[in-house]
Amino acid sequence: MHVIAYTSESQIPQAKLEKSLSEIEDVAQKKNSEMEITGALFYLNSRFLQIIEGEKAALEDLMKTLHHDPRHSDIVYLKDSPIEKRSMATWDMEIFNLETDKKQSLKTLQIITETFQQNLFDEKKTDDNADMLISFYKSVLK
Ligand SMILES: Cc1cc2nc3c(=O)[nH]c(=O)nc-3n(C[C@H](O)[C@H](O)[C@H](O)COP(=O)(O)O)c2cc1C
Repeated sequence: MHVIAYTSESQIPQAKLEKSLSEIEDVAQKKNSEMEITGALFYLNSRFLQIIEGEKAALEDLMKTLHHDPRHSDIVYLKDSPIEKRSMATWDMEIFNLETDKKQSLKTLQIITETFQQNLFDEKKTDDNADMLISFYKSVLK
């Protein structure tokens, strides 16, 4: 089992954002469940933070597709590591638009916290950890 987390710059015009995110969600949920990929996608201030879990080869295939998607650019890897088990096993691809999302449930908070503690925390990359934590907790405080 493997995890990849990255950030990217959205190229989606604000007027099309809602429609585009729901199109991404539809295709991602279908394809990810076929590929046994789970994860979450956060949107805030024209940036994405995505976390994907699954077999390494499946994640690498998806990353190839994502590198060619004109709806975002400037992909920066935060994490690309083996993990013992999934943290987001029930999410084919859960999308959080942090600019509009309402309060998250306690269950969502638990999953996000567990993901961070189990699979994303990196002792060497303190600044990246801080960025990720802030994004996650914004999702909770909104
Ligand atoms: C930020 C972002 C995240 C995405 N996440 C996924 C994803 O998790 N799974 C997925 O299948 N497609 C995702 N997509 C869409 C893919 O880039 C691609 O459009 C889709 O997989 C269809 O690819 P295909 O036409 O080659 O089948 C995402 C797109 C963007 C812009």
